[in-house]
Amino acid sequence: MSANNKAIEIRDLHYSYPDGTQALRDINLDVLKGESVGIIGPNGAGKSTLLLHLNGILRGSGKIKVMGTEIQDSTLPLVRSRIGLVFQDPDNQLFMPTVFDDVAFGPINMMLPKKEVDAFVKQALAQVGMSDAIERTSHHLSFGEKKRVSIASVLSMRPDILVLDEPSSNLDPKGRKELIALLKGINKTKIIASHDLELVTALCSRYIFLDKGALVKENSTPQDLADLF
Ligand SMILES: Nc1ncnc2c1ncn2[C@@H]1O[C@H](COP(=O)(O)OP(=O)(O)O)[C@@H](O)[C@H]1O
Ligand SMILES: [Mg+2]
Repeated sequence: MSANNKAIEIRDLHYSYPDGTQALRDINLDVLKGESVGIIGPNGAGKSTLLLHLNGILRGSGKIKVMGTEIQDSTLPLVRSRIGLVFQDPDNQLFMPTVFDDVAFGPINMMLPKKEVDAFVKQALAQVGMSDAIERTSHHLSFGEKKRVSIASVLSMRPDILVLDEPSSNLDPKGRKELIALLKGINKTKIIASHDLELVTALCSRYIFLDKGALVKENSTPQDLADLF
């Protein structure tokens, strides 16, 4: 298998929070381009901590490559344009006055010309079914709408890899079903951390099980998953 098949390579990753909590222990993981991988495990397993390493928000010891580029201070802007992280709580993602501003934030930071910014924003909002909300105030949207706009705010950078932390949390059954359909339609490498087994099995082709900061089972089957909880 050649190295350029890999969207993500994680080698010997360890991380402890400043208070001493050891949150990740010796994680080794490859995600291939085009794969959808589910990261599952109980609360406190280290799922969010792991995702925060993928775009360098947290920096543990060990090595992480994103689309062949190792995460270092000097590569952070490049890495963050290739991998888009959707936070669990959309209120942590949306901070601009309008939906347009939130979804345009990434492309503007990428120094794209205004015409392209507009085109990227429109396409991202169309992908999540929120085109009509372009001029609305982000913090007036419903939770489900905010979730969609937060996904658009990442898609607008046209990343190769989409990373989602607990995407279905706090959604009602209808919103959850719509979200699953929406994510199914996005043709990118996906990494999804969740304890929503139904969502993960609907969207992912491979499952990684984390417990107490360690990767305890790779390549779980849906039946393995059902047995774990
Ligand atoms: N900011 C923080 N400071 C100290 N410990 C933290 C912090 N955030 C998370 N942790 C701890 O790190 C571990 C992993 O947490 P987290 O990655 O949030 O797990 P998960 O997303 O699987 O629920 C837990 O023990 C949690 O209490
Ligand atoms: Mg979490």
